[in-house]
Amino acid sequence: MGANGLIFGGGNVIIRRMKNNEREKLQKGLIRRFVPYYRTHLKLFVTDIICAALISAFNLIYPYITGEIIDNYVPNGLMNWLLISAFALLIFYIIKAGLNYFLQYWGHIVGVRIQKTLRSELFDHLEKMPLSFFDENKTGVIMSRLTNDLFEISELAHHGPEDVLLSVVTLVGAIAIMFTYDVWLALILLALVPLILIYTIFMRKRFVDVYDEMRVVQGEINADVESAVSGIRVARAYTAEEHEKIKFEHGNDAFAKCKGKQYKVMGQYYASMRFLLDFMNFAVILIGGVFFFNGRIEPGVYTAFIMYVTTFSNPIWTLTTIYEQIQQGLTGFNRFCNIMDQPTEPEDAGATDCGRLNGDICFDNVSFSYKNDDSAKKVISGFTCRIGAGKTVALVGPSGGGKTTLCHLIPRFYEIDEGSISIDGKDIKSVTKKSLRENIGIVQQDVFLFNGTVKENIAYGDFNASDEQIVEAAKRANIHDYVMTLPDGYDTAVGERGVKLSGGQKQRISIARAFLKNPPILILDEATSALDNATEMLIQESLNELSEGRTTIVVAHRLSTVKNADEIIVVTPAGIAERGTHEQLMALNGIYKGLYEYQFKNL
Ligand SMILES: Nc1ncnc2c1ncn2[C@@H]1O[C@H](COP(=O)(O)OP(=O)(O)O)[C@@H](O)[C@H]1O
Ligand SMILES: [Mg+2]
Repeated sequence: MGANGLIFGGGNVIIRRMKNNEREKLQKGLIRRFVPYYRTHLKLFVTDIICAALISAFNLIYPYITGEIIDNYVPNGLMNWLLISAFALLIFYIIKAGLNYFLQYWGHIVGVRIQKTLRSELFDHLEKMPLSFFDENKTGVIMSRLTNDLFEISELAHHGPEDVLLSVVTLVGAIAIMFTYDVWLALILLALVPLILIYTIFMRKRFVDVYDEMRVVQGEINADVESAVSGIRVARAYTAEEHEKIKFEHGNDAFAKCKGKQYKVMGQYYASMRFLLDFMNFAVILIGGVFFFNGRIEPGVYTAFIMYVTTFSNPIWTLTTIYEQIQQGLTGFNRFCNIMDQPTEPEDAGATDCGRLNGDICFDNVSFSYKNDDSAKKVISGFTCRIGAGKTVALVGPSGGGKTTLCHLIPRFYEIDEGSISIDGKDIKSVTKKSLRENIGIVQQDVFLFNGTVKENIAYGDFNASDEQIVEAAKRANIHDYVMTLPDGYDTAVGERGVKLSGGQKQRISIARAFLKNPPILILDEATSALDNATEMLIQESLNELSEGRTTIVVAHRLSTVKNADEIIVVTPAGIAERGTHEQLMALNGIYKGLYEYQFKNL
């Protein structure tokens, strides 16, 4: 939430602080890019706009009829006309009610549909983004792109054109009618309008500045709260509540101060805006009154003038607020475009479906560095290794050595910089990612369970699996008996709103997933590291069964579990330090032997 709030405010500030011409260019580009989204909803949108125009036209009738009644129908005793106009007005009002309903309901629907389109485009795009994107962007920020930003865009999508049209038609219509009544009086009143607009623009700027400041402060507060809440256990353990409180109160003070500033400007703005609009009332009463006493205008026209000035104030008010809305909507859309413009995972042209592989993996002089890392330090350099089909290779060594990274290169979560990785003699770049990943099962230290039932979670291994297959996989992962004790068995919800599973149980579900998937290649990345010794031993049995007949790459902390691997590779930040079988490495009397003996001493 914290970073989200910050970026949320930040983006707006950035657009505003740009040079004027740059900003205009950017905004024009954004608008041009946005217009096509109306295309599919064109009929609805046009109807919406017509409704808005009709409503504003109807708003102009009332003062006109009032004028006619006072100047014409009443003095001339035209009772019939009075009745006709009154009922005509009623009919207009009924029609207007219908139009207002349409505008409110369908207008918003247009916005919502555009929002829906944008959201699915964004979601589709995110699903295809390379994993490095998710390394760099926090979940909270991505969430806010999918929710807040798109909401603001959709609000702008329909309110923008509709409000502008409603205001402009009312304003122009009222002015035009006033001119037909009396040119001079109309001119005098009209002269006040630009004054109001200039004043508004001036005030808006101050308004916007405090608004931006507010967002930054808000973002900081969110970040403080987020870190205080997620760190609550640490704070308790170190009795740091007081420290946290001081830190928080600092932000809280800043918030109150900033909010105070905001309300001050807001108060000034609203009070003075209302005053200017009221001043128009004063002007029309005074000047219109003088004109009336001079016999320039009839009492009805005088009344109509007063009423038109009142009709005026709403559109002026709307036009002054729409500016901010447009800014916000465009800022949101700009952030949307920024994500959409980032490249998705490359799918090599001409890649073929590799079908089911045997799992003969060959790393040939592979080098890799994370691109988001400024230092661009090589995490893997010149790594060469052959893992025959059905064989087991263990990667051991200090944390940060690049073991996980190596594992992630096989399913092409990241693209290697140099060298090649091939499976069964096929370069992994020459096959489709989908078919490649279908051949690989991964069991990691942290298990992620999706929102859903136990069954759904196991089914991630194979969405076409039958219930029997799922139960079979669960049995082999030794979780079936436990699942049967759950209130709804396999249909029990897990996670947030369901049963909380222990680390070992979660790991078994992820092992069941792998059994169900039945891949020729298996990656076990510290699958048991988070578990206690007893649980680890039990799970290790399942893992041993799982890896039977598969090419297995196992990363493990506890070396007792990798003793039987066909090859053990000691990976350090400097590269491969040692490699060989357990016996060879022990004989080598190096890092591996040291680690091994250290662990046994501690058992
Ligand atoms: N997503 C990432 N983005 C940038 N750097 C990373 C990322 N993941 C790991 N690293 C860096 O790569 C190095 C190797 O990490 P990793 O493969 O996780 O090591 P291990 O699994 O052996 O502990 C570390 O220096 C780590 O900081
Ligand atoms: Mg790791």
